[in-house]
Amino acid sequence: MPKQVDLGSLRARKAAGEKLTMLTAYDCPFAQLVDEAGIDMVLVGDSLGNVVLGYADTRPVTMDEMIHHTAAVCRGVRSALVIGDMPFMSYNITVQEAIRNGGRFLKEAGADVVKLEGGAPIADTVAALVTAGIPVCGHLGLTPQTASQLGGYRVQGRTADTALRILDDARRLEDAGISMLVLECVPDRVAARITAALAVPVIGIGAGPSCDGQVLVLHDLLGLGGGDFTPKFVKPFGALGDAARAALTAYRDEVRSGRFPAPEHCFTISDEELSKLDAE
Ligand code: KIV
Repeated sequence: MPKQVDLGSLRARKAAGEKLTMLTAYDCPFAQLVDEAGIDMVLVGDSLGNVVLGYADTRPVTMDEMIHHTAAVCRGVRSALVIGDMPFMSYNITVQEAIRNGGRFLKEAGADVVKLEGGAPIADTVAALVTAGIPVCGHLGLTPQTASQLGGYRVQGRTADTALRILDDARRLEDAGISMLVLECVPDRVAARITAALAVPVIGIGAGPSCDGQVLVLHDLLGLGGGDFTPKFVKPFGALGDAARAALTAYRDEVRSGRFPAPEHCFTISDEELSKLDAE
């Protein structure tokens, strides 16, 4: 069945001034919840590494891990567009390897689009992916795979020079054929100018309200994050971590006290069969 959300409709909605929604997901049940909530796009981000797999950052994430989790997400999604994040070093070595790896997201996992971090230096790779029939989402501003080269996890484009470089990169990516752009940790008024300069949808995270849409990491939105640090751009819309902790300690206490399982949780055997069993 064709999806309700497609690249053409997203572009038309940008032109009409309608806001777009994107969230990350990494498994089937959460992807189903996100899809059922009417979110337009599900990003299987390589934030998988730190959010779900317990790595310190996104760089250790492998192609096989991304394919495994993207396939699980695709099994839970009916309407939303699914974007698979190409992990560090899966598109940086040769264009052929980038096409082979990008193709795996579509053929093996069932994704609709792949996302790559970077600007002008990867424009040829982006163009080759698009020519091969693989829709691409760009990612500029703070690019976590290369955060160490950017001086860490910091806001990008705070000077006229650096803001202009991001704008130039965005134009290069649009010329190369991207279908949309994620803009991370960029001052709101810079993001507004980049959004106005592009025909493709610009989805912001820490990039202010003028972007065409917003993306958040699902676990941050749900209040499920484990860390002590919450980035400024995150608004927790729920407190699922607290709810989970309460449920887990209640389970522990009821098992220890013998209150769980109760009769309504048990299966029965007839008295007759039980007598036969005891007679044996
Ligand atoms: O990996 C990810 O989740 C991302 C978003 C933060 C945009 O790239």
